[in-house]
Amino acid sequence: MEGIHGKDHSYNLTQIQKIIENSKNFVFFTGAGISKESGIPTFRDKDGLWKKYDPAKLASHSAFISNPKLIWDFFYSRQRLVCQAECNEAHTAIGRFENTRPGRSSVVTQNIDRLHQRGGSQNVIELHGNIFGIVCMVCGKREQYDYSDFFNNFNEEKIPICPVCSNILKPDVVLFEEQLPLDAWNQAVRLSSECDVMFVIGSSLNVSPANTLPYYAVKNHAVLIEINPNVTEMISLMDFSIRESASKILPKILKSINI
Ligand code: APR
Ligand code: ZN
Repeated sequence: MEGIHGKDHSYNLTQIQKIIENSKNFVFFTGAGISKESGIPTFRDKDGLWKKYDPAKLASHSAFISNPKLIWDFFYSRQRLVCQAECNEAHTAIGRFENTRPGRSSVVTQNIDRLHQRGGSQNVIELHGNIFGIVCMVCGKREQYDYSDFFNNFNEEKIPICPVCSNILKPDVVLFEEQLPLDAWNQAVRLSSECDVMFVIGSSLNVSPANTLPYYAVKNHAVLIEINPNVTEMISLMDFSIRESASKILPKILKSINI
């Protein structure tokens, strides 16, 4: 079996265990698939959100400007779902791993559900913001809520109004047509460029610039371990591509190194 950088797409748990034991810096790059088993729909799976709805109408900047009520209704329903969801075994396994390697294990996520934080991860870079933050596009006022008290502050019948300048507030997430938060992006590039192992978990790798981060890891000769039940367009970049669900295989991999 070839193995590292030999583009071996099967996987051998012992080999991956040795790689982890001999590596220093880790990035868990995650997408919607890692939260699927928490009941949060993905976007591009057969049952994904963008198979049912048009993202241009529900998750773009211009849609928010023209119909903020529709966008808030869409986000209120997703906030409700996330409030009722639980983090799963994949989130908690990554949280435990981070505990064993303080300062050397980071999560770089495209997800806005904050389930990594509920799974114990502290070092989380949110490339697309998060669903429990709000921002005013006029005066820049920002507020972060915990999922447990979000709906004590908002009434789903109403569009939230900025207490400072009385303009409409927006969920503090990156909508299509918007830029990623620069500090989050710069941190994500730095971490990806310095890691020895990048787990690429639950992402179709369809959306840029997030999908360029594995290239930064490859440039640093990192080992890329993809966990996704389906093939993605970037399979040729991966050293290992594990066709399993994250909440099943990730705890198994980390258990092999007693985590
Ligand atoms: N474990 C691991 N991966 C899974 C699982 C699972 N249990 N279930 C599904 N997947 C995989 C799917 O095969 C798919 O490749 O998760 C991936 C989800 O892909 P997308 O739905 O495209 O989600 P993501 O890659 O995170 O999308 C990126 O697009 O719409 C924007 O802002 C949105 O952040 C999102 C971005
Ligand atoms: Zn304001």
